[in-house]
Amino acid sequence: MKVLEERIRQEGLILSETVLKVDSFLNHQVDTALTLAIGKEFAAVFGDRQITKVLTVEASGIQFAMAAGIALGVPFIYAKKKKAITLSEAVYSAPVHSFTRQEDYQISISQKYLGPDDTVLIVDDFLATGAALVGLCDIVAESGAQLAGVGCVIEKSFQEGRGLLEQRGIPVYSLARIASMSPGEIHFIDNEGL
Ligand code: G4P
Ligand code: NA
Ligand code: NA
Repeated sequence: MKVLEERIRQEGLILSETVLKVDSFLNHQVDTALTLAIGKEFAAVFGDRQITKVLTVEASGIQFAMAAGIALGVPFIYAKKKKAITLSEAVYSAPVHSFTRQEDYQISISQKYLGPDDTVLIVDDFLATGAALVGLCDIVAESGAQLAGVGCVIEKSFQEGRGLLEQRGIPVYSLARIASMSPGEIHFIDNEGL
């Protein structure tokens, strides 16, 4: 997505060879028009797959799941990272290992909102190590729903996330794919489609 790559070039802060800060338009302050365009792009890529729900994990996947849900005309669900009191009902859950924090946490959703009749598109802001996305895929499998694919806004292609998902036979599409970066320099990979 060219307009996204341009914004990353203009406003992205490359903190190191592995960390990109996009707080001015994606992750903290959010460009609403760009976010809706991102949702349309996901819908264009995955729209022929009879998707019934979009799924993400809190917090920074939420706006993109909402935008994709709007474009596809379906609801979105966000998995919660902490067990809320109101989630005392039956849940699907999966453990996630956070490499940045070196700890495990649980993600969960109510069993009320996903089941065998659903076809799910998973969406997130970053595809990095893929740990949270693999957890979401496990939740979809547990629910008996079909998984249409995973759509990410920014993929750091030099990290292992895409490989982990592809090993499981999951279609992955990222709107901006970073081959490599270092302060002052960023290289994108051309998108080949699904
Ligand atoms: P993950 O695979 O479970 O996401 O674990 P990882 O340890 O790789 O990443 C931890 C968090 O950092 C994730 O957000 C992930 O989206 C985010 N992240 C990974 N790489 C980058 C990066 O280059 N830039 C930015 N800005 N974020 C990155 P999270 O813990 O799930 O939290 P949230 O922000 O969604 O609430
Ligand atoms: Na995220
Ligand atoms: Na994040």
